[in-house]
Amino acid sequence: MDMKARRISLIAVTLVAVLAFPKWVAAQDQVARGEYLFNTAGCAGCHTDSKNNGALLAGGRELKTPFGTYYGPNITADPTHGIGTWSDEDFIRALRDGISPDGNHYFPVFPYTSFTKMTDADMRTLKAYIFSLPPVAKPDIPHDINFPFGFRFTMFFWKLLFFDKGPYTPPPGATPEVARGGYIAEALAHCGECHTPRNMLGAVDQSQKFAGLAHGPDGDTVPNITPHDKTGIGNWTDDELVTLFRDGEMPLGDEVDGGMAEVVRNGTSKLTEQDLTALIAYLRSVSAIENDVFHTH
Ligand code: HEC
Ligand code: HEC
Repeated sequence: MDMKARRISLIAVTLVAVLAFPKWVAAQDQVARGEYLFNTAGCAGCHTDSKNNGALLAGGRELKTPFGTYYGPNITADPTHGIGTWSDEDFIRALRDGISPDGNHYFPVFPYTSFTKMTDADMRTLKAYIFSLPPVAKPDIPHDINFPFGFRFTMFFWKLLFFDKGPYTPPPGATPEVARGGYIAEALAHCGECHTPRNMLGAVDQSQKFAGLAHGPDGDTVPNITPHDKTGIGNWTDDELVTLFRDGEMPLGDEVDGGMAEVVRNGTSKLTEQDLTALIAYLRSVSAIENDVFHTH
């Protein structure tokens, strides 16, 4: 190459780099924001068979419910066994409407009943993060559901009765902080999927929001986290709540257990200071409900 050609190619390379750099930074930034949403929403938990050292998001995690045993599917970017061929719109429809790309209804053991409350922008960001992770070619394990709950079309009627499509709207009069905390608790971290009692058809009973239940997921007793002073968390100080959400440590020094240990490890321990404060403000704002899960059932 002569000097001139070399100089021109150098300029070209520099130009391409300079033009592409902001895009690359934006993409990195989107992946980082996606990881934050991914952790807060706990997507890895149900979609990773950690007990058997399964690969991240490759599915196979067993989920026992009163209606049968479900297995989290593979949601890696693998085109055959995962969701690698999905468009952003497919992904948004799954989370917003609980409907698959081929038009089937999902079972609400997939908490799209909460994720429906996410914004479109957050759903796109989340998908970009999931697609930045390694694809894994592992087939799904079929669910083992008790008759007659296994028919997907019945979910059409279930949704008519119980499904409240998002995005999230904060309670009337909520401060921006409470609204942000509400978005974290309701749309992302789906606290109510465990802490709110369900009716006979498995729908959460919003009139009992966060009141707890004696027999929750995986047989755990799920405590009342309303601000009720005797049966809820009304007597907990902010510091005690922060210690629980950051370190998984209860006021009497015990380690938090069951499904909550995973919520803390992957989710609340990674929240920004501002988001954790907002979450606590939201918990303090919901109606206090008297329900002693440890004695009355
Ligand atoms: C409590 C467990 C649980 C959590 C948490 C969870 N999922 Fe799922 N997810 C499931 C189950 C179970 C299914 C299968 C539902 C069905 O077959 O109807 C599913 C299905 C899906 C599907 C459809 C896959 C397909 O092949 O059609 C997608 C996409 C998905 N989940 C994404 C997510 C994302 C993103 C998150 C985090 C925001 C998440 N899930 C969190 C349990 C969960
Ligand atoms: C997968 C189910 C599940 C999810 C999701 C969940 N929790 Fe929990 N939570 C539990 C269980 C089970 C316990 C009891 C743990 C124990 O006894 O060690 C618990 C305990 C707690 C406690 C301690 C209360 C007490 O009286 O001991 C608080 C506070 C709490 N959760 C808040 C939350 C918040 C806020 C969210 C959402 C960010 C959330 N949880 C999401 C299952 C869950």
